[in-house]
Order: sequence, then C-alpha cells, then structure tokens
Amino acid sequence: MLSWDEFDKEEEGEVATKGANAGHATEANMDRLDGAGAAAAVEARAVTASDSAAIVRAKAALDKLDIAEGLAELEGASARVAVDEKRMINCRADLNQLVPFKYDWAWQKYLDGCANHWMPQEVNMTADIALWKNPEGLTDDERRIVMRNLGFFSTADSLVANNLVLAVYRLITNPECRQYILRQAFEEAIHTHAYQYCIESLAMDEGEIFNMYHEIPSVAKKAAWGLKYTRSISDPKFETGTVDTDKELLRNLVAYYCVLEGIFFYCGFTQILSMGRRNKMTGVAEQFQYILRDESMHLNFGIDVINQIKIENPHLWDAEMKEEATQMILQGTQLEIEYARDTMPRGVLGMNAAMMEDYLKFIANRRLSQIGLKEEYPGTTNPFPWMSEIMDLKKEKNFFETRVIEYQTGGALSWD
Ligand SMILES: [Fe+2]
Ligand SMILES: [Fe+2]
Repeated sequence: MLSWDEFDKEEEGEVATKGANAGHATEANMDRLDGAGAAAAVEARAVTASDSAAIVRAKAALDKLDIAEGLAELEGASARVAVDEKRMINCRADLNQLVPFKYDWAWQKYLDGCANHWMPQEVNMTADIALWKNPEGLTDDERRIVMRNLGFFSTADSLVANNLVLAVYRLITNPECRQYILRQAFEEAIHTHAYQYCIESLAMDEGEIFNMYHEIPSVAKKAAWGLKYTRSISDPKFETGTVDTDKELLRNLVAYYCVLEGIFFYCGFTQILSMGRRNKMTGVAEQFQYILRDESMHLNFGIDVINQIKIENPHLWDAEMKEEATQMILQGTQLEIEYARDTMPRGVLGMNAAMMEDYLKFIANRRLSQIGLKEEYPGTTNPFPWMSEIMDLKKEKNFFETRVIEYQTGGALSWD
C-alpha cells in the first residue's frame, strides 16, 4: 500500500535543501529556487540522444506554445482578483481564481453538499422487490404512483443536469458558485442513477418508464415547460450582457430552480415519502428522501443566486420581469396540480388531489416570497407538515432508521 510516509522517504536526501527543511525560506532563497527551477525546466526540453523521433516532434511542438496566447483565452483579465470585482453575471475578473470568496454562502453549500454525499446502491431494496412482485402487495393506485413518479423523475433530473452544464454554468460568472454548480451537477447524476437503480431493481419496463415524458401528457407537459426555458440560453452563441439576454438567463433560473426543482418535484416526493411512512416501498422512499434533501439545497442555492443577481442588477427586476416570474410560478403550480390529479384520480395513502393542491399552493407562496414577489394564494396552509421535517433531516438521523452513512471520515490514502 502506498502512503504519504513512503513519498516523504523517497524525497529525502540531496533534493531537500537545508533552508527549506528548516522552514526558513527567505525571499532570496525562493528567488534562487525560481531561477534553478526555470533552468531545469528548459534543460528538460532539450533533445537528447535517447529521444525517439516521436518524442523529438512532441518537444518541438511545445517550443511553439505561447503562454500569453493561452492566458488570453482564459476568461477575464489575468491580474489577481479582488473581492469587489466579483459578480454573479457578466463578470470580467479571472474566473479561474476561486478565492477570495465573495459569496461565502455558495462555498458553504458546496461543503454541505459534499458532506451529504450518498450513493443509490447503499439503500437496501430487498423489501421493495418482494412487495412489487407480490400481486397483493400494492393497490393499483399505489402502483400507478410509483410508475408515474419514476417516469417523471428519471428524465426530469437529466433535464436539470443538462440545463446546468450546457447552459447555466457558462453564464454564471463566479467561481464559488460554479464550484457548487459542479457539485449539483454530480448530485443530479446520482439522482438519475437512483431512479435507474429503482427501475432496474423492480424489473420495470425501462423503455416505458424512460419514455414516459413523451407518452404521458401530465408528465410531458412539465418536461416541455422546462425545456422551453433552456432552448435559447443553451445555444453556444448565446451571451448575457444586454437587458434582454440577462433577463433571459433570469427566466431560466426561475424556471429551473423555483419551478422545476421548487414545485415540479413536490407532488411526487410527497406521494413516495407518504408511501415510505406507511412502510411500503421503503427503499424507493429512502432514495427519494436523500434526493429531496439534496433538492432543497439546490433550491436554496438557486434562490440565493436569483436574489444576488437582483441586488447587483436592480434594473433587471422591473415590473415586467416581476409579472413574468409570477406567471411562471403560477403556471408551474397549475401543471403540478394537473399532475397531482392525474397521479391520484382517487384518494390514496391518506391523501388526495385536493390536499395536494393546497400543499402546492402553499409551496408556490413560499417560492414567490423567497424571490420577493407577492403571495398569490393567500391563507393557504400546509396539510403535510411532516414534509418539512424530512427536508430538514440531518444525515445522522435516518427517517426510516435503516443505517447511518458517514462520508466525512477522510483518513489515510490507500491505493491498492
Ligand atoms: Fe435532482
Ligand atoms: Fe436538483
């Protein structure tokens, strides 16, 4: 097994200078090392008698590499970055310099996301497989809920991931936010993996489930609504920097963070988690529980990004934009209400479509107020308070009391 101790041993001897070992690196010492290092690098480029023709060609090609040209291609200027140069969108400072942080909340969310890491294979699916196979195990209504939700989510998380990677990432010009977006993108991949894992474990018809977003109207409408907002900004030629294009990006963020991740996931999450609370499909429910915890962080990140863009660009958040954002949230709520009706034509699991409608209106009010808009469904209350408890759950306490997963162990390097 390799360990850092062995690396240290190999490095001992002539290479380590006395000054560096004693920790007294003076400026003169550092200059001397810089000079020696640069000379050694040039020497390494020299063609030697043992070099093959291919190696000679590789070295010659590198002789033509122009550092200045490479730097010019990097985004932003090449000077050291100061905090007040950083901007959420249209930033001109170098985006490859992570620190100093301007948005500490973004970095904190990145750390929290990493601390909550989980993988679908860690969830035990045995009871679900037995229940799914048993003809008496679930009612038709319950089976419909499992199928519809796996159908919607298995592609919805891909839509979110594609929107992040192919559209949003490039246009959010802040390195700590990009760091979180990369983490979020990986989490979306884990979510898609989790749905695939459920579908495979339950031996469902994969083609039927993955194509549901084309075949089932209530699922298709939600996917089509989201895709509409990706189209223009995922064009590689799309650039922000004008009022119109900045607003286009803002619309995308409202569509994906507030509506897709903030409303479209909530009927399905509530239904599956309600099943888990009744001790049915507990493996699927546990997967959804972990996903919901990730999603609530994605949502909060998106809300913070939208609000920060508003602070830095108040001219974008005009009456027209407010009306548009309100309309988007109301349309999303309406589509989710229709999805609730379609997935629950009758009462099931102690809930019905009317209760879900109240819940969705309650959620919509939250989304509106989170981005500073007026609530549109006054007086609505939350019929499922247990949902908020699940969302706030820390990883040490598993709702279904299966097992504790602890990723923050760190420790020794082991490469065997
Ligand atoms: Fe997701
Ligand atoms: Fe998400």
